[in-house]
Amino acid sequence: MVKCILNNKIVNCYEAFIHISDLTLLRGYGVFDFFRLVGLEPLYFHDHIERFFHSADALRLKCPVGRKKLISMILELIETNNIRNSGIRIVLTGGASETGYSIGDPSLFVINEPINPLPKDYFANGIKLITHEYSRDLPEVKSINYLMGIYKLPEIKKMGALDLLFHWNGKISEVTRSNFFIVDKDDRLITARHGVLKGINRKHVISMAKERYIVEERDLYLEELAGAKEAFITGTTKKVMPVCQVDDILIGNGKPGPTTVQLQKMYEGYTEEFLKTN
Ligand SMILES: Cc1ncc(COP(=O)(O)O)c(C=O)c1O
Repeated sequence: MVKCILNNKIVNCYEAFIHISDLTLLRGYGVFDFFRLVGLEPLYFHDHIERFFHSADALRLKCPVGRKKLISMILELIETNNIRNSGIRIVLTGGASETGYSIGDPSLFVINEPINPLPKDYFANGIKLITHEYSRDLPEVKSINYLMGIYKLPEIKKMGALDLLFHWNGKISEVTRSNFFIVDKDDRLITARHGVLKGINRKHVISMAKERYIVEERDLYLEELAGAKEAFITGTTKKVMPVCQVDDILIGNGKPGPTTVQLQKMYEGYTEEFLKTN
């Protein structure tokens, strides 16, 4: 029986419930984080724990356990479940609300779920995105609200795309569940600085890439897509994934470019080394 964490206990998943008056259920108010295991080793574990507590603080949600206890419970859960290469989802809800609008006592649960590997073709040949004008609420918070991305799924599918690229006031922010980069004509990597979730993979790809490339975190404009040589996204399951088309614009020659392919290789080595040394 697969186990999960509910507040300060490891329990069987069928024993874990949240109250029907929970603010997460009634109003979509809650936060989460998600990371993957390489074998049974959590990748970028401490970054994810820090971001989880940052999101919780930002929404004034008090986690029923502190960092140390959460880390030790998650390690125990991983060992108990023994599901290799799976994902860990940490969720903190708004808690049962007395008024239906006020924050209650948040519930914490941690789910250990299998990750279905994404098709190899996406990594080898790249993906298509479609643009959508939208600004996420409190973008630096990893909130549980993915309303727009899920709502748009039929349209995304119809257009032969994988996901939405959000922009607002002419500025590109991010994809529904990943960060977005372009490689410009001078081989500089550019990604949005503001109005995005600070992806853990974004952070590590930037620090890894800086050894070879100039990386700029700044406003990134929609018009820059037409002149981009390459584009890619970063994320926990996407790692470094080439983007070959945005709407009707082919990026470069419509195939993954050399910089993206290089970064994909570097990322594999970087994560391996990171796990060895951390
Ligand atoms: C809105 C958003 N941006 C970016 C990311 C990428 O973050 P990470 O690299 O930590 O997976 C995610 C991850 O789910 C996300 O939800």
